Amino acid sequence: MSVVPPSANKPEAVAEKNAQSSPSVQESGNAGFYPPATEVTSEQEGQGAPANAAEFDAARSQVAERIAGLADKTADLTKQATTSAVEAGKVGLAKAAKISRESVLPELSRTSAKMRERTRPDRLRKDYRDFLLWLHANILDSATERLFFVPTKGSVPLDGLSVRGTNRDSGHAYKPSPALVFKWALAAVAEEDIGRMSFIDYGAGKGRVMLLASQYPFTQVGGIEFAEELHDNATMNIAQFPRSRMKCRNVDCVLDDVVNVAPVDGEAVHYFFNPFEPAIFAEVLKGIVASYHARPRRLYVILIDMDAGELMHKTGIFQEMKLPSAERMQAQALSPYKISVFRSLA
Ligand SMILES: C[S@@+](CC[C@H](N)C(=O)[O-])C[C@H]1O[C@@H](n2cnc3c(N)ncnc32)[C@H](O)[C@@H]1O
Repeated sequence: MSVVPPSANKPEAVAEKNAQSSPSVQESGNAGFYPPATEVTSEQEGQGAPANAAEFDAARSQVAERIAGLADKTADLTKQATTSAVEAGKVGLAKAAKISRESVLPELSRTSAKMRERTRPDRLRKDYRDFLLWLHANILDSATERLFFVPTKGSVPLDGLSVRGTNRDSGHAYKPSPALVFKWALAAVAEEDIGRMSFIDYGAGKGRVMLLASQYPFTQVGGIEFAEELHDNATMNIAQFPRSRMKCRNVDCVLDDVVNVAPVDGEAVHYFFNPFEPAIFAEVLKGIVASYHARPRRLYVILIDMDAGELMHKTGIFQEMKLPSAERMQAQALSPYKISVFRSLA
């Protein structure tokens, strides 16, 4: 590349300009990088003038060439610097793209997969339910739990327990009803009915629900439990429970398989906290319906954490009850389990 001023290589043009004694050259005494224009006297004219003009031209050419050389060198250096900067930039970009491909993108997709998983509606529901279970077990049930001689909290698998009957495999492990869930469910039973009714807990475990029911004025409270160890705990808890709290002191737990125990004759609340498989529930319900047909009367069936609505409607004698609005709202917000209450038509 050459940056020589267009006129620098044309001595004639400059000579012509100098010969015309340009005012600017005259005034400044130096036209930029051109040698100063020397005044030519009349004597000099015709003697040394031609030799001086040639020297000027030569000097001008030299200066112009030097400047052009410097400009070319500068341009080359700039070009080299630009090329290596571009190359360095390309290497940097390639490195950044590699890091992004190998680390940043996989991490981003792992994080977004985690976020998607954690915010899935069923996952959020499960997390909230786990929180509610913890809340009931560790906070809300604490006051009730202090009343029992044998602690009723926590779960107990049926393996290793001595079980009556042949339905061990259809039985569900022991775990207690949260006290508030029991209270919300029982709110659907008319207060005036309670004083005439028996309360039966199918799969009574360590007796927590029986003793919660004993704090209402039922005529009797019964339970059926097929695991000996759990039944012993229930018996101990009944014996030790503060009498001052009991509005019904006629409380008894039977050690047997539910399929072997006939339903009570009178009006009753039948309570099931998901104690066994649907086949056992269907058998027990059949007995209750037969007893109703033998003597139509007011019966309630409370189902906690069970999906037996269809079976209940098929009986033709039960209709589903709504919880009173206060309990319904509390249960909707705070119950870890589904609560369904049915009442017989009579
Ligand atoms: C989920 S626990 C409920 C305990 C208690 N009803 C409550 O709500 O706190 C279920 C209980 O049902 C008992 N169970 C399961 N199958 C049974 C059966 N066929 N006959 C009697 N009890 C049974 C289990 O041993 C267990 O104690």
